[in-house]
Amino acid sequence: MPSELSPIDKAKFVAAKKATEYVKTGMKVGLGTGSTAAWLVQCLGEKVRNEGLRIKGVPTSSRTAQLAREVGIEVISLDEAKWLDLTIDGTDEYDGDLNLIKGGGGAHLQEKIVATASDQMIVIADPTKRVETLGAFPLPVEVIPFGWQTTKTLIEETLIGMDVLGQTTSLRMNGDAAFITDEGNHILDLHLNRIGNARQLSLVLNQIPGVVENGLFIDICDAVIIGYGDGRVEVNDINKGETVSSKFDFMDSGNLFSDDI
Ligand code: A5P
Repeated sequence: MPSELSPIDKAKFVAAKKATEYVKTGMKVGLGTGSTAAWLVQCLGEKVRNEGLRIKGVPTSSRTAQLAREVGIEVISLDEAKWLDLTIDGTDEYDGDLNLIKGGGGAHLQEKIVATASDQMIVIADPTKRVETLGAFPLPVEVIPFGWQTTKTLIEETLIGMDVLGQTTSLRMNGDAAFITDEGNHILDLHLNRIGNARQLSLVLNQIPGVVENGLFIDICDAVIIGYGDGRVEVNDINKGETVSSKFDFMDSGNLFSDDI
C-alpha cells in the first residue's frame, strides 16, 4: 500500500496520481521515464484496467514501454501517434520558469522529442527537484560513440566561454562499460554546478558535432505537479500563473498495489 512507502516515494506517488486527472479517454499520452514516471504508468494502468480509461501511450524509453504494456496500456510509436495531447514525465531539476534538467536516467533524447511533440507537458516531481538556478545536477549530453572523446574535448573547450561554475565532464558508465542509451549512444555528464544562461548553453551544446541532444528543457514544460510525503499536492501552471494546492487521502488509494498485473 502507498502508506507503507518512504516519504519520498509517497511524494512521487501523489504527484503521479494527481497527474492522472489530466488524462482523458481518447488521448494520446507521452509516458516519461524514471522512478516518478513509473508511478504514473502504474496509476494510469490502474485506471485502464479498473475505470475503463482508453488511451494510447507513447513511451520515452524501452523501460517505460515494457512497464506500460505490463500494466495494460496500449503502446504506440511516436510516428504512429504523430502528435500527442499530453506528455507527463519526471525531472532531475526544475526552476521557477519551469525550465528543466532531465536525463538522469539516460532517456532525455526520446523524452525531449516526445514532450516537444505534445500540446502540453506536465512534470511530476517531489520537492527536492526544485532549484533556484539549474546546474547542481550534472547536465546529461547524449553523444554518438564515434569520436566521443573528441566531442568531449570540444564540449570542455566550449564550456570555458559559458556562464557556468564548473567545467568538468565525465563519461557515464554502466559498471565497467560505457552507458548505452536506447539509441545506441553515450552520455557525457557535465558538472557545471550553476548554469547562468540555460537557453544559451542548450543552443551552443547542440551545435557541437557529435552531440545528439542535451538535457536542458527550455520553454517545454507547462506545469509542475509537486507531491509531498504527507499527501499534499501543488500544481504550478506557468500559463495560468497560478499554484493550486490539494491533499491526497492515502486511505482512499484503491487497490493499485494489490492487483495482479
Ligand atoms: C530520465 O532520463 C530522466 O529524465 C528522468 O525523468 C529524471 O531523471 C527523473 O527521474 P526520477 O523520477 O527517477 O527522479
